[in-house]
This record gives sequence, structure tokens and C-alpha cells, in this order.
Amino acid sequence: MSQQNRVLTTQNGAPISDDQNSLSAGERGPLLLQDWHLIEKLAHFNRERIPERIVHAKGTGVYGTFTLTRDMSDYTIADHFNGVGKQTETFVRFSTVGGEMGSADAERDPRGFGLRFYTERGNHDIVGNNTPTFFLRDGIKFPDFIHTQKRNPQTNLKDPHAMWDFWALNPEAMHQVTVLMSDRGIPANYRQMHGYGSHTFSFWNAEGERFWVKFHFKTKQGIANLTAEQADILKGIDPDSSQRDMVAAITDGNFPKWAVKVQIMPEADANTYKLNPFDLTKVWPHADYPLIEIGELELNRLPQNYFAEVEQVALAPSNLVPGVGASPDKMLQARLFAYADAQRYRIGANYNQLPVNCPHATTANHHQRGGAMAGTQCPFSGSQTGGDASRNYGPNSYDGLQDQAQFAEPPLRLDGEANRYSRYDQDDFSQAGDLYRLLPEDEKARLVANIVSTLSVVSEATQNKMVEHFSAADSDYGQRVKEALKG
Ligand code: NDP
Ligand code: HEM
Repeated sequence: MSQQNRVLTTQNGAPISDDQNSLSAGERGPLLLQDWHLIEKLAHFNRERIPERIVHAKGTGVYGTFTLTRDMSDYTIADHFNGVGKQTETFVRFSTVGGEMGSADAERDPRGFGLRFYTERGNHDIVGNNTPTFFLRDGIKFPDFIHTQKRNPQTNLKDPHAMWDFWALNPEAMHQVTVLMSDRGIPANYRQMHGYGSHTFSFWNAEGERFWVKFHFKTKQGIANLTAEQADILKGIDPDSSQRDMVAAITDGNFPKWAVKVQIMPEADANTYKLNPFDLTKVWPHADYPLIEIGELELNRLPQNYFAEVEQVALAPSNLVPGVGASPDKMLQARLFAYADAQRYRIGANYNQLPVNCPHATTANHHQRGGAMAGTQCPFSGSQTGGDASRNYGPNSYDGLQDQAQFAEPPLRLDGEANRYSRYDQDDFSQAGDLYRLLPEDEKARLVANIVSTLSVVSEATQNKMVEHFSAADSDYGQRVKEALKG
């Protein structure tokens, strides 16, 4: 470290003569307002938090590398999926969903798996979970659902009555409830679990052909879960167990890896396939759309400043790049709005200029110059690389910034009447049953015990409704829950 780097300074860079003793009027006297170094310390301290994320508040972030092992140019023009051997910098934030920033990692809860690729044509985020499905198929229900997962607004306690009441009245949750209550409902850590893009996205290629696509990230560390009893003990001993596990792994050079796979459906198949491929409560069975391995994700570098990089990372399903698009999935459509909106509130209008959010592998050139904490380039320092600093409107005759028509998404045909379609897919149960039937006997027993551990405290009417749903998935499943509730 150079001599200059050892100099303790104030924020304006002035050397500090004494950082341990405040300026007082006499040895025992009161403090002086002119001690602006003290005031800077106290005032900054008061501002060292931003609102925590409304969901997924507790998390762990790591940088890494995605290596493409199969050229995907037949399907997409996206640069990170073109050219075998192509490497792209990534950032992943893992999280739990319902707990606050200080909550325990070993809760029974889905795990967030939010992945960013810093591609040469901008940042591409896949903000998924460790589950291939979700509780809902329409984003209009998301705030209500999350209210049942968070604290009761009156008692400020977690509330199993609200949780089971909501699931009883929303049977489309059955598949995901089964995943959540199964062994995989409490991953042992973030390395030993799969990740899924969960939604259906789209790829398009240079010929303008569109494909529907699902992303899968299969752990190479092997799956490891905790039983409810193990988790209860661990939550007390080490609430930060998953964070600690990841920091230790990366520090030891034991870099975790995931095989990156996709399922691909030609655009026209969506009209005739037996399932609605845009329904987030369902998977595409592998027998119909097999997994195609396309690369490897390795995580290998810890952030330097947790707050700057992990707390302020702004992952968003709307961060898409040419060659990768959205789909008509109603949940995804709601999410395309929600994330950037949350981040403008949580971080500020210019959150994309922060180093972790800035498109590292390219430059951002646009006409949005104002707002809190605006810099002139992303990240903050220097001047905008493209364009003319004096032009903040477009088109203009000076800065040369131009639309890139070659990256236009192919047109998507849309049909139908504008309406609120309440039950566009009646089958809430088959895939929950498929999952139940593939579980080994001991896991079925633990699934039922996990369900009953909280279902047993709610009203009989809600219990009966849930037994009906479990029975609709699989009669043995329903029967066992019913028996266990009597027990
Ligand atoms: P497959 O038999 O081809 O696939 C079953 C899938 O289930 C595999 O991905 C497997 O993952 C996963 N799995 C295995 N054991 C468990 C477990 N104990 N808990 C949770 N998941 C497990 O069947 P289908 O594709 O027809 O799907 C059948 C059911 O499998 C679905 O209803 C769904 O619940 C579940 N599933 C399906 C996925 C898909 O994308 N098709 C993805 C994940 C789950 P692994 O090889 O890693 O053990
Ligand atoms: C975080 C909304 C469904 C995965 C968030 C945040 C919001 C949000 C507002 C906080 C963002 C921030 O402040 O940075 C919604 C809405 C949904 C929805 C409205 C439904 C319509 C889903 C689904 C998944 C998911 C289906 C997974 C498949 C995540 C993850 C994070 C997150 C992983 C944390 C991102 C990070 O690590 O920073 N969600 N969500 N969400 N959501 Fe969702």
C-alpha cells in the first residue's frame, strides 16, 4: 500500500488529525459545531441503510463466469449464447423470500437464484428461484400471497392461518406447495441446490424465428437438504449458515458450478401443446422437451463491499438483450414492471449507474442525464463514451446515437378479446401428483409430516379444503395428510 493510501481522510479527501477524540470546549466541556468531521461521521451513519427488498431481503452475492459449451446461434443471436468457449462475467444473488434482512437462512422457503450475465450487448438477468414453478399464475395475486408469507399486520407474527387459508382458496398453488413441503423445501446451502429461470422466455435467431425457452441450472455439488429438525437447530446456531457456507467455499477456492441447460419449444408448438406453456404453475415434462446442456456457470469471486454490490444490485426480469425476450406468461409480464419500479424507489433513479448494475461489457449511451446521484457515465466517473455531452434529447443532429434496427424482436401474433380470464387452465393438480408419485417412500412421509406440522393448527374448514386438494393431486397423498391430521 502506498504512503498516500494509508492517510485517513474525510469524504472530501482532507487528512484527519484525530479520529478518536471530538472537539470540545475545554477538557470536560460540550462539543463544538465546527467539528465537521464528527458531524460527517454521525450524519453518514444515519444514512447507511436503504429500504430492504420487499421480498428476498436476506441474500448472498457472488461474481462468476459463464462458459458456453454449445453454440446456440440456431436459436438466438444473444452474444453470450453464440460461439463455443465464449465466456461472460456473471453475478448471482441467492436469497430467501419471506424473511427480513436479519432472518435465518435455513427457513423452509423458496430460494432466490438471481443471475446476471454482463453481455457485450447489455446486462441479461434471469431472476429465478430454486424451483421450476411458482404458487401463482397471475401477478395480480402476488401482493396478497406475499402478505400471507410475511407477518400478520396486527400481531406482527408469522401466520400459518393466513398461509393455508390462501393456499386452500388458490389451488393453483398445489404444485409449488408440494415442492416447498418436500425435502427440497430447505436446501442445506446455496451451492447444493438447482436454479431455474422458472418462466418461459423467448429466443430469436438471425432468421427472425422465435423459440420458447426455459432455463435450468443443475448443481454440480449434488443436492443437499435439511430436515425440519436439523433446520430448527441450525437457525439458532447460525442464522447466516448459507452466507457462511458460500464465503468459505469461495475463500477456499472451492468454486461452485452449475450445468446450464435449456428446454426449447418452437414458437408454433405453443398453440397445440397439451399444456399452456406460459403457466408458471407447471413444468414442461422432460419427455416432451428434453434438457439441452449449453454451458457451465462457475462462481469464483466475492464482492468487496456487501452493501454496494449485494444490497444495491438491481436484478430485473426486464433486463433483456437482443436475442432473448419475454413471453405471454402473466406472472412474467407483471414482473417486467415490478422490479425496476422497486429499484427506483429502493435505490434511486440512477441505480443503473452503480458499478454492480452498470453494463460492464459494453457502455450505456442514452439521453437520461438527470436525477439523484446522476453521473456522466456508468459507472459514475468520466464522461459518456458515446454521444455528445450537451445533447440530452433524441434524435438530434449531433451525438450520432442511433437505433439499431437489426436487433428488433420478430413480431409476435396476438389474438383474443381483452378480458379478465379467471380459469384459463383448469388443471391445478396433475403435476403436483406427478411430483408426489416420483418421491421415494421416506420422502413422502416427511412431506406429509412437514405439511401437518403447520396445517394442524388451522381451522377444520381449511384443513378439509386442503385435504381435498391433496387428494385431487393423488388419492394416497390426500389420504395420508387426512390420517396425519387426525393423529
Ligand atoms: P422427470 O422424471 O423427467 O423429471 C423429474 C424431475 O424431478 C427431475 O428434474 C429431478 O431432478 C426432479 N426430482 C427428482 N427427485 C425430486 C425430489 N425429491 N424433489 C423434487 N424434484 C425432484 O419428470 P417430468 O419432467 O415429467 O416431471 C415430473 C415432475 O418432476 C414434475 O411434476 C415436477 O414436479 C418435477 N420436476 C420437473 C422438472 C421439469 O422441468 N420437467 C424440473 C424439476 C422438477 P434431479 O434430476 O435434479 O433430481
Ligand atoms: C425480488 C416482485 C414473482 C424471484 C423481488 C422484488 C420485487 C419482486 C418487487 C424486489 C426487487 C428489488 O427491490 O430489487 C415480484 C412480483 C412477482 C414476483 C410482483 C409476481 C408477479 C417472482 C417469481 C420469482 C421471483 C415468480 C422466481 C421465479 C425473485 C428473486 C428476487 C425477487 C430471486 C430477488 C432478486 C435479488 O436477489 O435482488 N420480486 N416477484 N419473483 N424476486 Fe420477485
